[in-house]
Amino acid sequence: MKIAVLPGDGIGTEIVAEAVKVLNVLDLKFEMEPALVGGAAYEAHGHPLPDSTLKLAKESDAVLFGAVGDWKYDKLDRPLRPEQAILGLRKNLGLFANFRPAICYEQLVGASSLKPELIAGLDILIIRELTGDIYFGQPRGRRTAVDGHFPGAEEAFDTMRYSRPEIERIARVAFEAARKRSKRVTSVDKANVLETFQFWKDVVTEVHKDYPDVELDHMYVDNAAMQLVKAPKKFDVVVTGNMFGDILSDEAAMLTGSIGMLPSASLNSSNQGLYEPSHGSAPDIAGKGVANPLATILSAAMMLRFSLNQPEAADRIESAVKDVLASGLRTGDIWSEGTKRVGTREMGDAVIAAITKKTITG
Ligand code: IPM
Ligand code: MG
Repeated sequence: MKIAVLPGDGIGTEIVAEAVKVLNVLDLKFEMEPALVGGAAYEAHGHPLPDSTLKLAKESDAVLFGAVGDWKYDKLDRPLRPEQAILGLRKNLGLFANFRPAICYEQLVGASSLKPELIAGLDILIIRELTGDIYFGQPRGRRTAVDGHFPGAEEAFDTMRYSRPEIERIARVAFEAARKRSKRVTSVDKANVLETFQFWKDVVTEVHKDYPDVELDHMYVDNAAMQLVKAPKKFDVVVTGNMFGDILSDEAAMLTGSIGMLPSASLNSSNQGLYEPSHGSAPDIAGKGVANPLATILSAAMMLRFSLNQPEAADRIESAVKDVLASGLRTGDIWSEGTKRVGTREMGDAVIAAITKKTITG
């Protein structure tokens, strides 16, 4: 089992170090190879996704990814910005299926900005298509307008597009995932306005014929954004396009109280995957040892389950995280009165202690 370890920028290095520590106590044989990505790679090699890093990612079974980006790179040309590394990895590895669970841990109900009764027990799964849509659609660029409201004016444009096979495969991923949960899928679109998303809705409806045991409903994205804060527990699996999924997954993450808790997985058709926390590089707290490593540790658990076929090891990590929360340890982002504030390393150590204790006592 080969894992490419790409910590990236900001808090990425600190949180990935904790996840690596956790992987190392599992008594499994991994080959873990680190590489630079994002701003760190730009500084060293002049490119956010150097060929050597991409090659390592391609030949690995899984990529454990931290976070990329820093305000100081905002002025670089777009192809050199740190974010291009993650987009390049998604595209080059064909990571079309992005799983973003939003789970509210019992002990963290109070950390959400919503009323506890709205989010207690929340467990939804956003499945975001990750390699199509307006993110990657061509053509895109700047030019002089020849029509529109201001002919002759400078304009910029992107292209929203989806092909049938792209929609079919993500719809299948969603229906299959729903079969392992409560068998309900909400497909989010903007079919009332956009041709691309009327097509999305039509294709999802067709694919659904192969999954009569799963309930499917459709929702416009504006309404979905509203329902997520009104009655989030009504959702189970949500499937949507790249752009809407980007926005709704941040919204869903915040329902749970802390984006610092949420892992994510991005898979291709051979189950090779990239695993990263749902949060970003948080340059404001980088290097201070206060970042929450749990999202990355939980991403490592998803990696064990989805790409490395080690479901038991994944369970051990996830139950250790619950034990640590139950014991009252909290990083600053999830801290509340009556709990004990700890730093990044102490949190990682506590997860390891919970795993090894379970191993010893059986
Ligand atoms: C995410 C991020 C990325 C995205 C950025 C960093 C390119 O926001 O993974 O949600 O927009 O997909
Ligand atoms: Mg995002």
